Amino acid sequence: MVLAAAGLVKEYHLGRTLVEVLRDVNLELCRGETLAVIGASGAGKSTLLHVLGGLERPSGGRVRLLGDDLYSVSARRRNYLRAAHIGFVFQFYHLLPELDVMENVGLPAMNALAPAVEDPEDRVRELLTAVGLAHRAHHLPMELSGGEQQRVALARALMNRPDILLADEPTGNLDPVTGGQVLEALFNLVARENQTLVMVTHNADVAGRCQRVLELQAGRLQSPAGGEKICLKQQGEG
Ligand SMILES: Nc1ncnc2c1ncn2[C@@H]1O[C@H](COP(=O)(O)OP(=O)(O)OP(=O)(O)O)[C@@H](O)[C@H]1O
Ligand SMILES: [Mg+2]
Repeated sequence: MVLAAAGLVKEYHLGRTLVEVLRDVNLELCRGETLAVIGASGAGKSTLLHVLGGLERPSGGRVRLLGDDLYSVSARRRNYLRAAHIGFVFQFYHLLPELDVMENVGLPAMNALAPAVEDPEDRVRELLTAVGLAHRAHHLPMELSGGEQQRVALARALMNRPDILLADEPTGNLDPVTGGQVLEALFNLVARENQTLVMVTHNADVAGRCQRVLELQAGRLQSPAGGEKICLKQQGEG
C-alpha cells in the first residue's frame, strides 16, 4: 500500500457554525494505481487532496504514506515525506511569481530534504517539452496564460519523480485539444514512473481514463451515482 486513509474527518469551525467537510473517508491506493475523485463544487475534493498530501491535518482519522502515519510523525519528518514522495498540482497553481518557468519547475529539486535529482536542468527541459512549454522557459508566471501556468504547475509536481501525484483539476483550465495533450503526457509520465495518481476532475471523460473513479458526496468517498456509465479501465497490477 502506497497511500491509505482511514476514518478521515475534517471539520472547520466558523464562529458557531460547524462545517463538516469529510465525515468518514476511507481509501487504499497501491503503487501505480490511478484514481479520479469527482464530486460537486464544495464537496471537499481539494480538502481531501490537501489532507492526503500532508498539507492539512485532519480533525480525525489517519493517513498512512508508505508505512508512516503522516500526522503522527514530526513536522520535519512530514516535510521530508512530502518532499520525497508527493507531487502536488494545486487547483490554483501557486507558482512563485518572481521565478521564471524553468526555476518554478526545478524548485522541488532545490529542497534540501528531497532526494537528489540527477541532471535537474535536463529533467526540467524534459518536463517542459512533455507539457508543451519548452518555448516559454524564461517567462514569468504573469507572462503566461492560465492554462500555461497550469502546465507549469504539473511539470513542477513531477520534478522529483514522486511516488504519488495528487492533482487538483490539472486540466481544468485547458481547451479540449491542449487538455487532451497534457493528459496524454500526464498519463505517460505517471505510467513510465509507475506513480500512483489521485486526480480531481469535473470531466467524466478525464475521470474515465483512471482505473478507479470515486465520488465525494456528503463527506464520504463512494462509487459514483450512475457509475455504471463511466467506463472503467482494467485495473493494472499493483
Ligand atoms: N479554511 C476553511 N474554513 C472553513 N471552511 C472551509 C475552509 N476550506 C474549505 N472550507 C469549506 O469546505 C468545503 C469544501 O471545500 P473544497 O475546496 O475542498 O471543495 P471542492 O470540492 O474542492 O470544490 P471545487 O470543486 O469548487 O474546487 C467548502 O464548503 C468550503 O467552504
Ligand atoms: Mg477544489
